[in-house]
Amino acid sequence: MPAEYTVTVEPLGREVTCREDQTILDACLRAGIWLPHSCTHGTCATCKAEVVDGDVDHGDASSFALMDFERDEGKTLPCVARPRSDVVIEADVDVDDDVPVHAVEDFVGTVIGLDDVAQDTRRLRVELDRDLAFNAGQYMSLRVPGHPGVTRTYSMANPPSQSRVCEFQVRRTPGGLATDGWVFSTMAVGEQFALAGPYGRFVLHGSRTEPAVMVAGGTGLAPISAMIKHALLDGGSGVRLTLYQGARTRAWMYDVDLFTDLAARFPDQFTYRPCLSEEEADGFATGLVTDVLAADHPTLAGHVGYVCGPPPMVEAALKTLMSKRLFPRDIYREDFFNEGDKAAGGVRSPLIKR
Ligand SMILES: Cc1cc2nc3c(=O)[nH]c(=O)nc-3n(C[C@H](O)[C@H](O)[C@H](O)COP(=O)(O)OP(=O)(O)OC[C@H]3O[C@@H](n4cnc5c(N)ncnc54)[C@H](O)[C@@H]3O)c2cc1C
Ligand code: FES
Repeated sequence: MPAEYTVTVEPLGREVTCREDQTILDACLRAGIWLPHSCTHGTCATCKAEVVDGDVDHGDASSFALMDFERDEGKTLPCVARPRSDVVIEADVDVDDDVPVHAVEDFVGTVIGLDDVAQDTRRLRVELDRDLAFNAGQYMSLRVPGHPGVTRTYSMANPPSQSRVCEFQVRRTPGGLATDGWVFSTMAVGEQFALAGPYGRFVLHGSRTEPAVMVAGGTGLAPISAMIKHALLDGGSGVRLTLYQGARTRAWMYDVDLFTDLAARFPDQFTYRPCLSEEEADGFATGLVTDVLAADHPTLAGHVGYVCGPPPMVEAALKTLMSKRLFPRDIYREDFFNEGDKAAGGVRSPLIKR
Protein backbone atom coordinates (compact mmCIF):
# COMPACT_ATOMS: atom_id res chain seq x y z
CA MET A 1 0.00 0.00 0.00
CA PRO A 2 1.40 3.43 -0.91
CA ALA A 3 1.85 5.80 2.04
CA GLU A 4 -0.72 8.57 2.48
CA TYR A 5 -0.05 12.11 3.60
CA THR A 6 -2.16 15.11 4.54
CA VAL A 7 -1.95 18.11 2.23
CA THR A 8 -3.24 21.38 3.68
CA VAL A 9 -4.20 23.98 1.10
CA GLU A 10 -3.84 27.59 2.20
CA PRO A 11 -5.40 30.14 2.26
CA LEU A 12 -8.47 27.82 2.24
CA GLY A 13 -7.29 25.87 5.27
CA ARG A 14 -8.67 22.70 3.68
CA GLU A 15 -7.05 19.31 4.17
CA VAL A 16 -6.93 16.45 1.72
CA THR A 17 -5.37 13.00 1.86
CA CYS A 18 -2.83 12.39 -0.91
CA ARG A 19 -1.09 9.10 -1.72
CA GLU A 20 2.67 9.19 -2.24
CA ASP A 21 2.11 8.10 -5.86
CA GLN A 22 -0.57 10.74 -6.50
CA THR A 23 -0.05 14.34 -7.55
CA ILE A 24 -1.18 17.06 -5.16
CA LEU A 25 -3.37 18.60 -7.87
CA ASP A 26 -5.07 15.27 -8.53
CA ALA A 27 -5.85 14.74 -4.84
CA CYS A 28 -7.27 18.25 -4.55
CA LEU A 29 -9.40 18.12 -7.71
CA ARG A 30 -10.82 14.72 -6.77
CA ALA A 31 -11.79 16.16 -3.36
CA GLY A 32 -13.52 19.10 -5.05
CA ILE A 33 -10.83 21.59 -4.00
CA TRP A 34 -10.16 23.87 -6.93
CA LEU A 35 -6.53 24.73 -7.66
CA PRO A 36 -5.51 26.73 -10.73
CA HIS A 37 -4.20 24.52 -13.52
CA SER A 38 -4.06 24.29 -17.29
CA CYS A 39 -1.77 21.68 -18.88
CA THR A 40 -1.58 19.22 -15.90
CA HIS A 41 1.79 18.01 -17.25
CA GLY A 42 4.32 20.39 -15.62
CA THR A 43 4.69 22.58 -18.70
CA CYS A 44 2.72 25.82 -18.35
CA ALA A 45 3.47 26.94 -14.75
CA THR A 46 -0.17 27.94 -14.17
CA CYS A 47 -0.45 25.80 -11.04
CA LYS A 48 2.75 27.08 -9.35
CA ALA A 49 2.36 27.11 -5.58
CA GLU A 50 4.54 27.53 -2.52
CA VAL A 51 5.44 24.67 -0.20
CA VAL A 52 5.10 26.32 3.20
CA ASP A 53 5.87 23.16 5.17
CA GLY A 54 6.88 19.57 4.38
CA ASP A 55 8.63 17.86 1.46
CA VAL A 56 7.53 17.13 -2.09
CA ASP A 57 9.00 15.28 -5.06
CA HIS A 58 8.83 17.79 -7.94
CA GLY A 59 8.25 14.94 -10.39
CA ASP A 60 8.35 15.63 -14.10
CA ALA A 61 8.26 19.43 -13.87
CA SER A 62 9.77 21.19 -16.87
CA SER A 63 12.97 22.96 -15.80
CA PHE A 64 11.58 26.05 -17.55
CA ALA A 65 8.20 26.02 -15.82
CA LEU A 66 9.89 25.42 -12.44
CA MET A 67 13.39 26.83 -12.41
CA ASP A 68 16.13 25.69 -10.03
CA PHE A 69 16.03 28.90 -8.00
CA GLU A 70 12.26 28.51 -7.61
CA ARG A 71 12.71 24.97 -6.30
CA ASP A 72 15.24 26.40 -3.81
CA GLU A 73 12.69 29.05 -2.82
CA GLY A 74 10.12 26.35 -2.01
CA LYS A 75 7.95 26.62 -5.12
CA THR A 76 6.41 23.55 -6.76
CA LEU A 77 4.02 22.53 -9.55
CA PRO A 78 1.17 20.63 -7.84
CA CYS A 79 0.12 19.02 -11.14
CA VAL A 80 3.28 16.87 -11.09
CA ALA A 81 4.44 17.15 -7.44
CA ARG A 82 3.90 14.25 -5.04
CA PRO A 83 4.09 14.50 -1.25
CA ARG A 84 6.97 12.96 0.69
CA SER A 85 5.57 14.02 4.07
CA ASP A 86 2.55 15.92 5.35
CA VAL A 87 2.60 19.15 3.36
CA VAL A 88 1.20 22.67 3.59
CA ILE A 89 0.96 24.56 0.29
CA GLU A 90 -0.06 28.13 -0.41
CA ALA A 91 -1.85 28.37 -3.76
CA ASP A 92 -3.30 31.18 -5.82
CA VAL A 93 -6.87 29.97 -5.37
CA ASP A 94 -8.97 32.39 -7.35
CA VAL A 95 -12.20 30.54 -8.05
CA ASP A 96 -14.38 32.05 -10.76
CA ASP A 97 -17.83 32.36 -9.22
CA ASP A 98 -19.56 31.74 -12.55
CA VAL A 99 -17.81 28.41 -13.14
CA PRO A 100 -19.08 25.40 -11.18
CA VAL A 101 -16.43 23.06 -9.77
CA HIS A 102 -16.88 19.44 -10.85
CA ALA A 103 -14.69 16.97 -8.96
CA VAL A 104 -12.38 14.83 -11.07
CA GLU A 105 -13.42 11.18 -11.32
CA ASP A 106 -12.22 8.03 -13.10
CA PHE A 107 -14.19 6.64 -16.03
CA VAL A 108 -14.03 3.72 -18.43
CA GLY A 109 -14.63 4.74 -22.03
CA THR A 110 -15.62 2.62 -25.02
CA VAL A 111 -14.74 3.85 -28.51
CA ILE A 112 -18.01 4.04 -30.48
CA GLY A 113 -16.82 6.21 -33.37
CA LEU A 114 -13.52 6.90 -35.09
CA ASP A 115 -13.66 9.05 -38.23
CA ASP A 116 -11.16 10.92 -40.37
CA VAL A 117 -12.60 14.44 -40.65
CA ALA A 118 -9.65 16.33 -42.15
CA GLN A 119 -6.00 15.82 -42.95
CA ASP A 120 -4.36 14.06 -39.98
CA THR A 121 -7.47 14.78 -37.89
CA ARG A 122 -9.77 12.23 -36.30
CA ARG A 123 -13.07 12.59 -34.52
CA LEU A 124 -13.24 10.13 -31.66
CA ARG A 125 -16.52 9.33 -29.90
CA VAL A 126 -16.18 7.67 -26.53
CA GLU A 127 -19.10 6.36 -24.51
CA LEU A 128 -18.49 6.63 -20.78
CA ASP A 129 -19.61 4.11 -18.16
CA ARG A 130 -21.69 6.89 -16.53
CA ASP A 131 -22.55 10.55 -16.95
CA LEU A 132 -19.83 13.18 -16.79
CA ALA A 133 -20.50 16.65 -15.35
CA PHE A 134 -18.21 19.29 -16.84
CA ASN A 135 -18.02 22.87 -18.10
CA ALA A 136 -17.93 23.59 -21.83
CA GLY A 137 -14.24 23.85 -22.76
CA GLN A 138 -12.82 21.37 -20.24
CA TYR A 139 -10.77 18.30 -21.07
CA MET A 140 -10.15 14.68 -20.05
CA SER A 141 -6.93 12.85 -19.31
CA LEU A 142 -6.69 9.60 -21.30
CA ARG A 143 -4.48 6.73 -20.17
CA VAL A 144 -2.39 5.57 -23.12
CA PRO A 145 -2.72 1.75 -23.34
CA GLY A 146 0.54 -0.16 -23.03
CA HIS A 147 2.31 2.76 -21.34
CA PRO A 148 1.59 2.61 -17.60
CA GLY A 149 1.33 6.02 -16.00
CA VAL A 150 1.36 7.87 -19.34
CA THR A 151 -1.59 10.18 -19.98
CA ARG A 152 -2.55 12.58 -22.74
CA THR A 153 -5.18 15.28 -22.57
CA TYR A 154 -8.00 15.92 -25.06
CA SER A 155 -10.77 18.50 -24.89
CA MET A 156 -14.44 17.67 -25.19
CA ALA A 157 -16.04 19.11 -28.34
CA ASN A 158 -19.50 18.12 -27.10
CA PRO A 159 -21.53 20.39 -24.82
CA PRO A 160 -22.17 19.41 -21.18
CA SER A 161 -25.77 18.49 -22.08
CA GLN A 162 -24.28 15.44 -23.83
CA SER A 163 -22.96 13.87 -20.67
CA ARG A 164 -22.49 10.23 -21.66
CA VAL A 165 -20.58 10.40 -24.96
CA CYS A 166 -17.41 12.47 -25.25
CA GLU A 167 -16.39 13.77 -28.66
CA PHE A 168 -12.65 14.34 -29.03
CA GLN A 169 -10.97 15.88 -32.06
CA VAL A 170 -7.41 14.63 -32.34
CA ARG A 171 -4.63 15.93 -34.60
CA ARG A 172 -1.86 13.47 -35.49
CA THR A 173 1.59 14.44 -34.23
CA PRO A 174 4.30 12.66 -36.23
CA GLY A 175 6.17 10.40 -33.82
CA GLY A 176 3.63 11.12 -31.07
CA LEU A 177 3.01 8.37 -28.55
CA ALA A 178 -0.77 8.77 -28.23
CA THR A 179 -1.63 9.95 -31.73
CA ASP A 180 0.76 8.21 -34.15
CA GLY A 181 1.15 5.29 -31.75
CA TRP A 182 -2.49 4.77 -30.76
CA VAL A 183 -5.37 6.93 -32.05
CA PHE A 184 -4.08 6.85 -35.64
CA SER A 185 -2.79 3.26 -35.62
CA THR A 186 -4.19 0.61 -33.26
CA MET A 187 -7.33 2.25 -31.87
CA ALA A 188 -10.53 0.52 -32.99
CA VAL A 189 -14.26 0.82 -32.37
CA GLY A 190 -15.17 -1.29 -29.31
CA GLU A 191 -11.85 -0.69 -27.57
CA GLN A 192 -12.02 0.27 -23.90
CA PHE A 193 -9.61 2.51 -22.01
CA ALA A 194 -9.40 4.49 -18.78
CA LEU A 195 -9.80 8.25 -18.60
CA ALA A 196 -10.30 10.84 -15.87
CA GLY A 197 -11.67 14.35 -15.64
CA PRO A 198 -12.91 16.95 -16.04
CA TYR A 199 -9.84 19.21 -15.97
CA GLY A 200 -9.02 22.74 -17.01
CA ARG A 201 -10.18 26.30 -16.65
CA PHE A 202 -10.58 27.24 -20.33
CA VAL A 203 -14.36 27.46 -20.10
CA LEU A 204 -17.19 29.60 -21.35
CA HIS A 205 -17.80 32.33 -18.79
CA GLY A 206 -21.56 32.76 -18.71
CA SER A 207 -21.35 35.91 -16.61
CA ARG A 208 -19.39 37.82 -19.29
CA THR A 209 -21.91 39.81 -21.25
CA GLU A 210 -19.46 41.29 -23.79
CA PRO A 211 -19.43 39.87 -27.34
CA ALA A 212 -16.85 37.10 -27.66
CA VAL A 213 -14.22 36.65 -30.35
CA MET A 214 -13.11 33.01 -30.52
CA VAL A 215 -9.92 32.02 -32.32
CA ALA A 216 -9.23 28.33 -33.05
CA GLY A 217 -6.22 26.77 -34.75
CA GLY A 218 -6.28 23.08 -35.75
CA THR A 219 -7.99 20.90 -33.15
CA GLY A 220 -7.97 23.91 -30.86
CA LEU A 221 -11.47 24.06 -32.29
CA ALA A 222 -12.63 21.27 -29.94
CA PRO A 223 -13.18 23.20 -26.67
CA ILE A 224 -14.44 26.24 -28.57
CA SER A 225 -16.88 24.00 -30.42
CA ALA A 226 -18.21 22.81 -27.04
CA MET A 227 -18.64 26.42 -25.92
CA ILE A 228 -20.48 27.45 -29.08
CA LYS A 229 -22.85 24.44 -28.96
CA HIS A 230 -23.46 25.10 -25.26
CA ALA A 231 -24.21 28.78 -25.88
CA LEU A 232 -26.39 28.39 -28.98
CA LEU A 233 -28.06 25.00 -28.67
CA ASP A 234 -28.39 24.70 -24.90
CA GLY A 235 -29.03 28.36 -24.08
CA GLY A 236 -25.76 28.53 -22.10
CA SER A 237 -25.13 32.16 -23.03
CA GLY A 238 -26.93 34.80 -25.02
CA VAL A 239 -23.85 36.83 -25.98
CA ARG A 240 -22.75 37.43 -29.53
CA LEU A 241 -20.04 34.99 -30.68
CA THR A 242 -17.69 35.19 -33.64
CA LEU A 243 -15.58 32.15 -34.51
CA TYR A 244 -12.31 32.55 -36.44
CA GLN A 245 -11.22 29.06 -37.51
CA GLY A 246 -7.78 28.83 -39.10
CA ALA A 247 -6.15 26.18 -41.26
CA ARG A 248 -3.54 26.05 -43.99
CA THR A 249 -5.76 24.63 -46.74
CA ARG A 250 -9.28 23.28 -47.11
CA ALA A 251 -7.97 19.76 -46.52
CA TRP A 252 -7.08 20.66 -42.93
CA MET A 253 -10.45 22.30 -42.18
CA TYR A 254 -13.34 20.40 -40.62
CA ASP A 255 -16.87 21.01 -39.28
CA VAL A 256 -17.33 23.86 -41.79
CA ASP A 257 -20.89 22.71 -42.53
CA LEU A 258 -21.74 22.57 -38.83
CA PHE A 259 -20.69 26.17 -38.19
CA THR A 260 -22.08 27.46 -41.47
CA ASP A 261 -25.42 25.96 -40.48
CA LEU A 262 -25.26 27.44 -36.97
CA ALA A 263 -24.46 30.88 -38.42
CA ALA A 264 -27.56 30.60 -40.65
CA ARG A 265 -29.76 29.46 -37.75
CA PHE A 266 -28.50 32.07 -35.27
CA PRO A 267 -27.69 35.11 -37.43
CA ASP A 268 -28.10 37.55 -34.53
CA GLN A 269 -25.82 35.61 -32.21
CA PHE A 270 -23.20 33.76 -34.23
CA THR A 271 -20.78 34.76 -37.00
CA TYR A 272 -18.44 32.26 -38.64
CA ARG A 273 -15.13 33.25 -40.28
CA PRO A 274 -13.21 30.23 -41.64
CA CYS A 275 -9.73 31.29 -42.82
CA LEU A 276 -7.20 29.55 -45.10
CA SER A 277 -3.62 30.78 -45.01
CA GLU A 278 -2.20 28.87 -48.02
CA GLU A 279 -5.14 28.55 -50.40
CA GLU A 280 -7.98 30.62 -51.84
CA ALA A 281 -11.45 29.09 -51.80
CA ASP A 282 -15.04 30.27 -52.04
CA GLY A 283 -16.56 31.01 -48.65
CA PHE A 284 -13.20 31.26 -46.90
CA ALA A 285 -11.21 34.34 -45.93
CA THR A 286 -7.64 34.24 -47.21
CA GLY A 287 -4.79 34.77 -44.77
CA LEU A 288 -3.60 33.84 -41.33
CA VAL A 289 -6.46 33.74 -38.89
CA THR A 290 -4.82 36.52 -36.89
CA ASP A 291 -4.49 38.76 -39.96
CA VAL A 292 -8.13 38.24 -40.93
CA LEU A 293 -9.19 39.00 -37.36
CA ALA A 294 -7.06 42.16 -37.31
CA ALA A 295 -8.46 43.35 -40.64
CA ASP A 296 -12.06 42.75 -39.51
CA HIS A 297 -11.83 44.88 -36.36
CA PRO A 298 -10.41 48.40 -36.02
CA THR A 299 -10.71 47.77 -32.26
CA LEU A 300 -11.86 44.94 -30.00
CA ALA A 301 -12.36 47.12 -26.94
CA GLY A 302 -15.44 45.85 -25.11
CA HIS A 303 -15.01 42.24 -26.29
CA VAL A 304 -13.88 39.03 -24.61
CA GLY A 305 -11.38 36.71 -26.35
CA TYR A 306 -11.13 32.91 -26.28
CA VAL A 307 -8.06 31.44 -27.97
CA CYS A 308 -7.03 27.80 -28.38
CA GLY A 309 -4.55 25.85 -30.46
CA PRO A 310 -0.83 25.17 -30.86
CA PRO A 311 1.26 27.46 -28.60
CA PRO A 312 2.73 29.63 -31.44
CA MET A 313 -0.75 30.30 -32.84
CA VAL A 314 -2.07 31.15 -29.37
CA GLU A 315 0.83 33.55 -28.87
CA ALA A 316 0.18 35.27 -32.22
CA ALA A 317 -3.54 35.58 -31.45
CA LEU A 318 -2.80 37.08 -28.04
CA LYS A 319 -0.63 39.74 -29.64
CA THR A 320 -3.35 40.55 -32.16
CA LEU A 321 -6.08 40.75 -29.53
CA MET A 322 -3.98 42.95 -27.28
CA SER A 323 -3.00 45.22 -30.17
CA LYS A 324 -6.76 45.68 -30.71
CA ARG A 325 -7.13 46.88 -27.11
CA LEU A 326 -8.23 43.72 -25.36
CA PHE A 327 -6.80 43.51 -21.84
CA PRO A 328 -5.27 40.31 -20.42
CA ARG A 329 -8.19 39.91 -18.00
CA ASP A 330 -10.50 39.73 -21.03
CA ILE A 331 -8.62 36.92 -22.80
CA TYR A 332 -9.04 33.21 -21.97
CA ARG A 333 -6.59 30.79 -23.54
CA GLU A 334 -5.65 27.14 -23.85
CA ASP A 335 -2.27 26.08 -25.23
CA PHE A 336 -2.17 22.55 -26.64
CA PHE A 337 1.28 21.81 -25.20
CA ASN A 338 2.82 18.42 -25.98
CA GLU A 339 5.90 16.61 -24.67
CA GLY A 340 8.14 18.33 -27.22
CA ASP A 341 6.95 21.75 -26.01
CA LYS A 342 7.65 20.65 -22.46
CA ALA A 343 11.22 19.65 -23.30
CA ALA A 344 11.67 22.94 -25.15
CA GLY A 345 10.36 24.94 -22.19
CA GLY A 346 6.84 25.73 -23.31
CA VAL A 347 5.91 28.02 -20.44
CA ARG A 348 3.00 30.31 -21.22
CA SER A 349 3.46 33.67 -22.69
CA PRO A 350 4.76 36.41 -20.43
CA LEU A 351 2.14 38.55 -22.19
CA ILE A 352 -0.68 37.22 -20.11
CA LYS A 353 -1.21 35.28 -16.93
CA ARG A 354 -3.94 32.88 -17.94
C1 LIG B 1 -5.06 21.24 -22.00
C2 LIG B 1 -4.75 20.51 -23.28
C3 LIG B 1 -5.80 20.09 -24.10
C4 LIG B 1 -5.52 19.44 -25.31
N1 LIG B 1 -6.55 19.09 -26.13
C5 LIG B 1 -6.27 18.54 -27.35
C6 LIG B 1 -7.32 18.24 -28.28
O1 LIG B 1 -8.51 18.44 -28.01
N2 LIG B 1 -6.98 17.74 -29.49
C7 LIG B 1 -5.66 17.50 -29.84
O2 LIG B 1 -5.41 17.05 -30.98
N3 LIG B 1 -4.66 17.76 -28.96
C8 LIG B 1 -4.93 18.25 -27.74
N4 LIG B 1 -3.91 18.50 -26.86
C9 LIG B 1 -2.55 18.00 -27.19
C10 LIG B 1 -2.46 16.52 -26.72
O3 LIG B 1 -2.63 16.45 -25.32
C11 LIG B 1 -1.12 15.86 -27.05
O4 LIG B 1 -0.07 16.62 -26.53
C12 LIG B 1 -0.92 15.68 -28.54
O5 LIG B 1 -1.98 14.92 -29.08
C13 LIG B 1 0.41 14.94 -28.83
O6 LIG B 1 0.41 13.73 -28.12
P1 LIG B 1 1.29 12.51 -28.59
O7 LIG B 1 1.37 11.54 -27.46
O8 LIG B 1 0.85 12.00 -29.90
O9 LIG B 1 2.73 13.18 -28.83
P2 LIG B 1 3.97 13.21 -27.80
O10 LIG B 1 4.44 11.85 -27.48
O11 LIG B 1 3.61 14.09 -26.67
O12 LIG B 1 5.04 13.90 -28.72
C14 LIG B 1 4.82 15.19 -29.23
C15 LIG B 1 6.07 15.65 -29.97
O13 LIG B 1 7.12 15.84 -29.02
C16 LIG B 1 8.23 15.00 -29.34
N5 LIG B 1 8.74 14.55 -28.03
C17 LIG B 1 8.19 13.61 -27.22
N6 LIG B 1 8.91 13.49 -26.08
C18 LIG B 1 9.94 14.38 -26.20
C19 LIG B 1 11.03 14.72 -25.36
N7 LIG B 1 11.20 14.15 -24.17
N8 LIG B 1 11.90 15.67 -25.80
C20 LIG B 1 11.73 16.27 -27.00
N9 LIG B 1 10.71 15.98 -27.84
C21 LIG B 1 9.82 15.05 -27.43
C22 LIG B 1 7.67 13.91 -30.22
O14 LIG B 1 8.64 13.39 -31.11
C23 LIG B 1 6.60 14.64 -30.98
O15 LIG B 1 7.10 15.35 -32.08
C24 LIG B 1 -4.17 19.16 -25.67
C25 LIG B 1 -3.12 19.56 -24.81
C26 LIG B 1 -3.41 20.23 -23.65
C27 LIG B 1 -2.26 20.67 -22.77
S1 FES C 1 -0.95 22.91 -14.79
FE1 FES C 1 0.86 22.58 -13.66
S2 FES C 1 2.42 23.25 -15.00
FE2 FES C 1 0.62 23.40 -16.21
